[in-house]
Amino acid sequence: MDILHVSAECYPIAKVGGLADVVGALPKYQKKLNTTSSVIMPYYNNPFTQKNNFNVVYENKLEMGKELFSFRVLKLSSNSLEFDLYCVDIPEFLYTDYVYSSSDTERFLAFQIATLDWVLSLERKPDIIHVHDHHTGLIPFMVSQSYRYETLKNIPTIFTIHNAQYQGWFSHNKVYLIPEFNFTNVGLLDWNSNINPLAAAIKCAWRVTTVSPSYMEELKLKANGLEDLLMHESKKCIGILNGIDWNVWNPETDNYLIGNYNSSNPIDGKKTNKQWLCKEFNLDENKPLFAFIGRLVGEKGSDLFPKIFKKALKENNISILLLGSGNKEIEFQLNQLQEEKNYGSFIGYDERLSHIIYAGADFLLMPSRVEPCGLNQMYSLRYGTTPIVNAIGGLKDTVVDINANGFGICHYGVTIEEVTNAITRANLFYQNQTEYIQNSKKIMLIDNSWTNSAQEYINLYKSLKK
Ligand code: ADP
Ligand code: GLC
Repeated sequence: MDILHVSAECYPIAKVGGLADVVGALPKYQKKLNTTSSVIMPYYNNPFTQKNNFNVVYENKLEMGKELFSFRVLKLSSNSLEFDLYCVDIPEFLYTDYVYSSSDTERFLAFQIATLDWVLSLERKPDIIHVHDHHTGLIPFMVSQSYRYETLKNIPTIFTIHNAQYQGWFSHNKVYLIPEFNFTNVGLLDWNSNINPLAAAIKCAWRVTTVSPSYMEELKLKANGLEDLLMHESKKCIGILNGIDWNVWNPETDNYLIGNYNSSNPIDGKKTNKQWLCKEFNLDENKPLFAFIGRLVGEKGSDLFPKIFKKALKENNISILLLGSGNKEIEFQLNQLQEEKNYGSFIGYDERLSHIIYAGADFLLMPSRVEPCGLNQMYSLRYGTTPIVNAIGGLKDTVVDINANGFGICHYGVTIEEVTNAITRANLFYQNQTEYIQNSKKIMLIDNSWTNSAQEYINLYKSLKK
């Protein structure tokens, strides 16, 4: 079985968040299950594409509206990723160093048309086209409706919702950009009088998945306006929990770390990383270290961080370290907190620092209001760092509270009180070092790798093959 994943992000080529990690890992695990998975994504002008060699495998002009744009499909020459990587190079739209921008309608539509034009040219077509998030959400529509792709119609399309908050909607004035289709079916593109790629994908894909079972249930009640649609299509929707790449995220071999360690003795290794962090950010290594890593947006609860951090630092003898970027106002407020004692932050994106924090922190905070899956809590478990989570979505599916015979700290709701109480509870738990260290060892052994979920995806694909 040949599976083609289509995505805007893929680790290590271009990463903004967890989507990249998923698309960079799932194909590796699918390959272990006797399938061939490849990834096609935009060709961005970034450090990865600059450092690696690609071969041109296809060249053509794509038609979007009345205009023609030259494009090429490039294949990564080396086998370093363990799956075939194809990148669509459309100089007018994609050859920039950023993944997302304000003109994404045209950029990602051009990417999707070029991808399907390339698929049309292939002698051996993929058995499954698996598309991810709204940037690739018009593919199921085009495959089923556009005359141009008539011959692809029998290839099953799978659509994975990584985050339903972002839907990519645009005005019907731009409908002429989509390759011609029977206009009586234009309703398939529509939601609330806009063209909505996320809604179109939910309507047209053969199957819809989300990245955790709990998020699937939550979406039927709260999906940024798409609740009724998800309820209506619920028979073809399924929640499959994400996994993590067990080899990339391995404290025993992780090259980013200051000191490596494994579950039989995490103490010294974790301490080496913590010492490095504390020196770097001027923190006291004897206090428990609470960290946050992620996008600074409302979904992650970050608008409350300034108040939560101040209160938690006042009430507890702890340190807090933050790595993140996003909303400018929140960034500004968090920068001002720098004056606070026992607080450190790096506003920006830093892959290496994130690994050192997963290893060196004692607790990882995830007070998300919405968390379709969340990978950070699984990385933190793998690195022996106890997660503190708001029990929703994928966080609910992966973290069990210590008071329920589990291994993490759960809170129920995102308020300043709830989160600071959880921090206080975690701090108390930390005071009993024997119990805390035992827990660290235990959580490192929880298998959150992709092994099971990759199989679930394969079972789903197989159920669609005639
Ligand atoms: P989301 O995709 O919603 O941002 P996930 O938990 O699924 O959340 O994944 C986030 C990924 O992005 C993780 O690999 C995390 O380590 C990484 N990440 C987020 N922000 C940063 C940052 N500022 N620097 C480095 N890595 C980051
Ligand atoms: C999205 C979600 C996150 C999920 C990731 C990978 O960015 O916000 O919860 O882990 O996709 O599926």
